[in-house]
Amino acid sequence: MPLMNWDETMSVKSTELDAQHQELISLINDSYEAIQRHDEHKLLTLIEKMRAYAKHHFETEEQYMERYGYPDLEKHKRLHAKFNRDVDEFQKNLFKKTNLSQVFIFLSRWLTNHIMEVDKDYAQCLPAEDTEKK
Ligand SMILES: [Fe+2]
Repeated sequence: MPLMNWDETMSVKSTELDAQHQELISLINDSYEAIQRHDEHKLLTLIEKMRAYAKHHFETEEQYMERYGYPDLEKHKRLHAKFNRDVDEFQKNLFKKTNLSQVFIFLSRWLTNHIMEVDKDYAQCLPAEDTEKK
């Protein structure tokens, strides 16, 4: 069973950003699955992919927020930067961690809360036609 699922209630009203959230969720799910199967090699590859993809996704989101004049951009940027730092730290200490599953449960909860509360807030600033453009 996947650790987390994307559904319509998580939509931020942008096809591009919704697709990126889905990709991040699937990378977290795949990593979690690799942990369950004790597939260390795959896990290392997936974590690196997830780290890079999260950075790319945050940059895209920040561009959207900038473009549409989202007032809490700086606060949102700080949350992204903190997540990036946490994941970097986690990656560095990977083999010291005793409970990798717990780390991914934490990541999945962080992402769900972030999408549902923080991302949905900027969604209000996106123009409706953005959904149709893509
Ligand atoms: Fe965000």
